[in-house]
Amino acid sequence: MWLRRVFFDLMDILTAIRERISTRAFLDKPVSEDTVRAILDDARWAPSGGNLQPWKVHVVAGKARQAVIDAVKAKMETDPFADENSFPVYPEKLWEPYRSRRYAVGEQMYEILNIPREDKMGRLGQVLKNFDFFDAPVGLFFTIDPKMNPNQWAHLGMFIYAVTLAAEGHGLATCMQEAWTRFTLTVGKVLDLPEDEQVYCGLALGYADPDAPLNTMRTARASVDEIAGFRGFDGSNDAA
Ligand SMILES: Cc1cc2nc3c(=O)[nH]c(=O)nc-3n(C[C@H](O)[C@H](O)[C@H](O)COP(=O)(O)O)c2cc1C
Repeated sequence: MWLRRVFFDLMDILTAIRERISTRAFLDKPVSEDTVRAILDDARWAPSGGNLQPWKVHVVAGKARQAVIDAVKAKMETDPFADENSFPVYPEKLWEPYRSRRYAVGEQMYEILNIPREDKMGRLGQVLKNFDFFDAPVGLFFTIDPKMNPNQWAHLGMFIYAVTLAAEGHGLATCMQEAWTRFTLTVGKVLDLPEDEQVYCGLALGYADPDAPLNTMRTARASVDEIAGFRGFDGSNDAA
């Protein structure tokens, strides 16, 4: 019985890891505060170096969600090229293989949406949907103390990923959104964040629209052999 339970639990974890995708179309169906609390109650068990738990999260729904959306749209209207991020999301002049991977995921998305390369406004319109949380009823903003080191930022990422997997476990879908970092100060102002909290990433949370073609998108991954090196498995003790 115990073994069976372990087996089934393990299957659930593997299914969540493999089935989670970035969902970019949501149903008009509310998510209760209790459900979000339950997700965060699971995700808070994410590990972190020294158990610092260097994360905070701000959840917005209803009017609070709309207030963030309105503030960012107002900012975009007065300053369309605003970028309040303290560092660029990607390194300058991304190199291979990362450049091609980034390009491929964009092309895959616009192909499903049938928005050709020449239709710049159409493509921009899709990007701007980020700032409506892709119509998800709940938005989350993950913050970190800007005094933290790169290590703690990595650990914040573990928490965010745990939130996405926990959401799957509760029957919900997510899309992580670093798009919001362009407006980190504007969002911070609306949320009335203290100086020791910087918005790193947003997250759209809700019920996936099962009929939206975009939600069928499965992105590629490099194979294990491309990303992993194996040493010492041939029975010898050589540290090759
Ligand atoms: C930290 C982080 C931030 C992301 N920000 C955005 C975003 O702003 N907008 C968006 O549409 N997708 C965003 N994504 C989704 C990625 O494009 C997506 O994870 C990647 O293409 C792999 O696809 P999958 O999540 O469906 O497996 C983000 C992903 C991560 C991990």
